[in-house]
Amino acid sequence: MRGSCVPFSLSVAAALAMAACSVGMLARLPICAQKSQVLRPIHRLLSYPGTAAADARGEQPSSGTVETGSENRTPKKRFSEVQKERREQAQRTILILCPNKVSEKKFLKYLSQHGPINNHFFFESFGLYAVVEFCQKDSVASLQSSARTPSMGTDAAIPFRSRFFNLKLKSSSDQTSEQSSVPCSNQSPPSNKKLFELLRDAESIDDQLNTLLKEFQLTEENTKLRYLTCSLIEDVAAAYFPDCAVRPFGSSVNSFGKLGCDLDMFLDLDEIGKFSAHKTSGNFLMEFQVKNVPSERVATQKILSVIGECLDQFGPGCVGVQKILNARCPLVRFSHQASGFQCDLTTNNRIALKSSELLYIFGSLDSRVRALVFSVRCWARAHSLTSSIPGAWITNFSLTMMVIFFLQRRSPPILPTVDYLKTLTDAEDKCIIEGHNCTFIRDLNRIKPSGNTETLELLLKEFFEYFGNFAFNKNSINIRQGREQNKPESSPLHIQNPFETSLNISKNVSQSQLQKFVDLARESAWILYQNDKGQPSPARSQPWGLAALLLPSVTKSASRAKKSRKKPASERIKNLLESIKSGSAENSSSTNGKRTVNTES
Ligand code: GTP
Ligand code: MG
Repeated sequence: MRGSCVPFSLSVAAALAMAACSVGMLARLPICAQKSQVLRPIHRLLSYPGTAAADARGEQPSSGTVETGSENRTPKKRFSEVQKERREQAQRTILILCPNKVSEKKFLKYLSQHGPINNHFFFESFGLYAVVEFCQKDSVASLQSSARTPSMGTDAAIPFRSRFFNLKLKSSSDQTSEQSSVPCSNQSPPSNKKLFELLRDAESIDDQLNTLLKEFQLTEENTKLRYLTCSLIEDVAAAYFPDCAVRPFGSSVNSFGKLGCDLDMFLDLDEIGKFSAHKTSGNFLMEFQVKNVPSERVATQKILSVIGECLDQFGPGCVGVQKILNARCPLVRFSHQASGFQCDLTTNNRIALKSSELLYIFGSLDSRVRALVFSVRCWARAHSLTSSIPGAWITNFSLTMMVIFFLQRRSPPILPTVDYLKTLTDAEDKCIIEGHNCTFIRDLNRIKPSGNTETLELLLKEFFEYFGNFAFNKNSINIRQGREQNKPESSPLHIQNPFETSLNISKNVSQSQLQKFVDLARESAWILYQNDKGQPSPARSQPWGLAALLLPSVTKSASRAKKSRKKPASERIKNLLESIKSGSAENSSSTNGKRTVNTES
């Protein structure tokens, strides 16, 4: 077995000594500010004729004159540019637990002593918090040098100098006249009640999907808070690995994150090796003396074990730390109490970061993509097809892949295939990670928008119909090629991992969960086809369109039907759907497409 080394820095000895006696001081000055890259001009625009659906029909690439989803013509930032800017912003940012009533004006004046403030916002979690972004990083250091470690009475404090502060009032009379409450930014998704009201009042199903997206997508503030949380965790990890980076990945950055989603992050130690590589000269080569361990996995486990311990013992606001080191992908799970984020920390998860970049590109190419993904994710959650607990259910990641695949299959395609994105690359896009070719074009301004003008209503309806009738028993979903392939193994649901192509990202999904998905998809298609027959009216009291799809399912009766040896509900719905489409069942339902509120418990 290949040996691996744990890239400890010298400061680890000091940190370990501190961990042993629970006293000492871990301090870290932020890394130097990095200039954000200037946006590249649009060199050329390319369309994506390579999609299987287009190939099969012998279609010409669309002229791209009709722009549906990509109304915004301003150049779009590359994923790496966004990451770099956000990370640099986060390094200039602090988190403060404030007194309940604080004068915003005095608060800002007080902090401005340390330098100009770029922006700030307040939010409520377990208390009132402020996120303050200084213009310069030096201001953070200045504030840190003026802050004190609290005296805890009989308890002892671990004097960790982080960027998470408590603001205390010296005397309660200090804030006299202006004790109005500060405006707080919302960090939570809307309640069901509010969502149903908004959907009820929407003008069309398209409007409903866009409303849902607007209400659930991560806000600017929530995104800032996510990057700040990673940056705060990086400060802790940097006590051991000074040149490390803690990078967010998954739905926090891939443009498909919903308010309240978890925060996936990984400890990136790759930078450590890079610095030393440049400094070799002459006949000598200097290497660090390191500890060898039997495998990469053991190295990962050891690193995460120590960081987990550190977060548990010293990480301000980190609670409920669990070290899940024997999982396929070892991780440390914890709650960041102030931000309210459930965090999963792994190490060197570069392929997952690349997957996030790929999804970011798909999410940015056409505004219909995110609207559809958000609705499908909410629909799946509403019917317990997905869960926050790991198990035999479909994940949000798999659902996103299914939507992308479906959009690759439209005519003309709304999204290009991964293979096509690879054909657009330059030498600088080349990316091989752990032997896997993860190359695709990173400049999304060079991908021509789709000429497809289908409405969201139609796409949602057809998504459900497509997957309600998909041959899951023999076909695999493959977004590299944008076409079905024969399943290479017998898992009920096979979605090829786009980079580690021998892997199935939905291997965990059981036959019964897949069947539940199919049943619900058919039922939902049926409801939407029924909806065609009645136009939305402001006076309607019953949930309609998307709202009807989010209500408890009538297919609960499917199991009862099975027990009573009737034809399964999903089969009946499939047949009804066929007849509605062929126009032979004009009035097949007295509910006119409205799902009645299920009062059964
Ligand atoms: P949420 O449900 O909103 O958290 O979506 P998510 O996309 O963040 O999913 P999750 O937190 O489960 O996983 C985080 C990231 O890990 C995903 O976005 C993927 O990049 C990656 N990932 C998750 N599951 C798999 C898998 O089964 N295979 C592979 N290759 N990557 C996965
Ligand atoms: Mg996640």
